[in-house]
Amino acid sequence: MLKLPKHFMTETENLRNRLNLLLQFGGVVYKETRLDKLLELIAAQVKKALDCDRCTVFILDKKTDELWSKVAQGLQNNEIRMSSHKGIAGEAATLGKTINIADAYKDPKFNQEIDRITGYHTSSMLAVPLKDVAGQIMGVFQVINKNSGRFDSDDEGVLELISSIAASAIENAQLYEKLYKAQLETIYRLALTAEYRDQEDTAVHLKHVSAYTALIARGMGLSETEVENIRNASPLHDIGKVAIPDAILLKPAKLTEEEYTEMKRHTFYGGKMLNDAESDLLAIACQIAECHHEKFDGTGYPAGLKGGQIPLYARIMAVADVFDALCMQRVYKPSWNPEKAGDLIRSESGKAFDPAVVAGFEKVFNEIAAVSRAAEAKDAAPRKKIR
Ligand code: C2E
Ligand code: SIN
Ligand code: SIN
Ligand code: FE
Ligand code: FE
Repeated sequence: MLKLPKHFMTETENLRNRLNLLLQFGGVVYKETRLDKLLELIAAQVKKALDCDRCTVFILDKKTDELWSKVAQGLQNNEIRMSSHKGIAGEAATLGKTINIADAYKDPKFNQEIDRITGYHTSSMLAVPLKDVAGQIMGVFQVINKNSGRFDSDDEGVLELISSIAASAIENAQLYEKLYKAQLETIYRLALTAEYRDQEDTAVHLKHVSAYTALIARGMGLSETEVENIRNASPLHDIGKVAIPDAILLKPAKLTEEEYTEMKRHTFYGGKMLNDAESDLLAIACQIAECHHEKFDGTGYPAGLKGGQIPLYARIMAVADVFDALCMQRVYKPSWNPEKAGDLIRSESGKAFDPAVVAGFEKVFNEIAAVSRAAEAKDAAPRKKIR
């Protein structure tokens, strides 16, 4: 962002320049809905706009009455917390007013603790409260060490304007994050319901398929979004099993032809349950639930889809599901070790499984085997039978 020294500017130019700055800032920050990334982005933009060394966005945690920040550049664990009444930032939050300080160490209210922790030296500081749409304080915007000495009234004006945009972008991101977390929680609980009757270590199995699908997706070089999509949707793959009678689902022996035919309908039930979902994640979960038993060579069920006709997420799920089914103990089979299970996956490349997915699996096999072994170690203790 461009900011000319103010003696080069007339009032109009100055105004136009600020308007530009705001437009640019708004355009950049509204695109980011992930809170962590947003805070980083805001800090970087503001540092440039105000020509200073550091920008920290403190968010008010109403539960603990603390101000926390994740973007104090140079901090090791990159999170700081302090009482929302402490220091200059605390004063800005408490009074709801802008505070401009030329030399922090000459101000008795300055909280030197944070400099001590970070090894940083604060000189000049400008702190502006962040207010939500209802006018409630939701944090503090703090800039430190103006390169040219101290912050002036122009800087105050610019930071106040920027802070109103930042506040609404942060509020959006917080809402978005809350919704997303609520959605994940619901999905996970729904998935637990489905597997609850089926397996002893339900939570373990769900964590495994999440971890395996995400690892394979990463091994295949898919994007971060795709990795997260399959990580979060995969636990629902067998949701359709809720509709399978106990006599079949829990049978401690090989299924008859007839029983297996009914069992296979869990893909149909799952697809029906998740059909027409509004949310992206549930739409992906639907593809997975419906198609995770399709085979690459067209010999799977329910539809006998082949190759690229099978959604990519379902092709990944198929590998993760079979690998975990093999490594886990089932009522109808003992557990296999990861090497033996890995051999089966490899031998089915191009048959049951997409070779590209098997190649991804191969790349991350050590990590997958480690996840599998970690559960096995916990399993070594005698198992409590729930049925
Ligand atoms: P699941 O136990 O989660 O198994 C998922 C898939 O892993 C199976 O899909 C199959 O492709 C693979 N798999 C599991 N165990 C073995 C194994 O010992 N050898 C080989 N080669 N592959 C294995 P599939 O066959 O479509 O089965 C779907 C679901 O049907 C299974 O989910 C399980 O809940 C149930 N099921 C399948 N066969 C039996 C059985 O003989 N007895 C009982 N009680 N349930 C069965
Ligand atoms: C303060 O606001 O008084 C200290 C906070 C900081 O240095 O970041
Ligand atoms: C199959 O994979 O066709 C039968 C399932 C099993 O091995 O139990
Ligand atoms: Fe299944
Ligand atoms: Fe499964």
